[in-house]
Amino acid sequence: MEASDEGVVSWKAPSNLAIIKYWGKHGRQLPANPSISLTLSEAHTHTRLRYSKANQYQPAGPEIHFRFEGQAKPAFEEKIRKFIHGIFSEYYPFLKDYRLDIESENSFPHSSGIASSASSMAALALCLTDIEYTLQGKACNSAFYRKASEVARLGSGSAARSLYPYMAEWGAHRDISDASDLYAIDFSDRIHDIFKSYHDDILIISGREKSVSSTAGHALMHNNVYAPARYQQANDRLSALLPVLKSGDVETFQKIAEDEAMTLHALMMCSEPSYILMEPGTIEVIRKIRQFRQDTGTQVCFSLDAGPNIHLLYPDSEKEKVGNFVQVALIPHCVNGKVIRDMAGTGPAKSI
Ligand code: PMV
Repeated sequence: MEASDEGVVSWKAPSNLAIIKYWGKHGRQLPANPSISLTLSEAHTHTRLRYSKANQYQPAGPEIHFRFEGQAKPAFEEKIRKFIHGIFSEYYPFLKDYRLDIESENSFPHSSGIASSASSMAALALCLTDIEYTLQGKACNSAFYRKASEVARLGSGSAARSLYPYMAEWGAHRDISDASDLYAIDFSDRIHDIFKSYHDDILIISGREKSVSSTAGHALMHNNVYAPARYQQANDRLSALLPVLKSGDVETFQKIAEDEAMTLHALMMCSEPSYILMEPGTIEVIRKIRQFRQDTGTQVCFSLDAGPNIHLLYPDSEKEKVGNFVQVALIPHCVNGKVIRDMAGTGPAKSI
């Protein structure tokens, strides 16, 4: 067997938290508005992919075998097979003769309520692109990450942003000439250092499965009467955020981050049909964070994903004060006292 007939690639890719939220899409996974996110470090997916020449011709696409955390997971395997079969002829045509054995694991428990689609799709896209670059004898350059980001986007929109250190931007925007709806870009050299050690404590308010998936939530934006105003607002907020990210103006950053979190959930509540993903504990914790900030002047704010859990954001200089506050006032609201202490991270990494 020739060297290129088989091999193993392995990548760790992080989750990310959007500061300007992507909510609403069109066409082939294209965003209705641009978004920007903090790349996390602790919450990640590790994927290992063994490729080998298949024994027989496979008209539908590569033969796929998938295991999650050491176990067969037929539903996940089918999802991954469908995804790869949907993209390979356009992005990795050489794969059709291959068999792919994929193994994946998350650093966070499945029941923690943390979405794994961003980190898992980013890790898979990195592995697929790595096979191509390895077979062609090319080194991982910026085109490598751009391709992986584009492919990750097709798996899950927010995954496009899990490819870069510290912060990533996805979606065309009037003030960012290299921004694109097709892939995310590295924003790490356009931000103040304070954001490179920013903390994100994820307070697990509920580990239950979401009642409405993100896919269904995005779709409901098509008939949401506020959608045009929202898309305009996201563009305007991103314009306002750019100088803030550059200067390290934490106060304005906090205001924009919280406004975006509240807008995301307001859009859910005024969708038709309306739905609520916040839990009573989410609101109680939001109130406590705002009160604590008002009383003590501590630089701390919250964000929310499409779920009830709180992302507590603060600069490294506030870690003692916020740590005590979390311990005393917020942990009682968390399921089994569960908090995932995360922070801005250096992005994906190739592993062995
Ligand atoms: O990537 P999706 O389809 O799971 O959508 C993610 C949407 C939010 O997490 C709510 C916002 C975002 O920009 O990540």
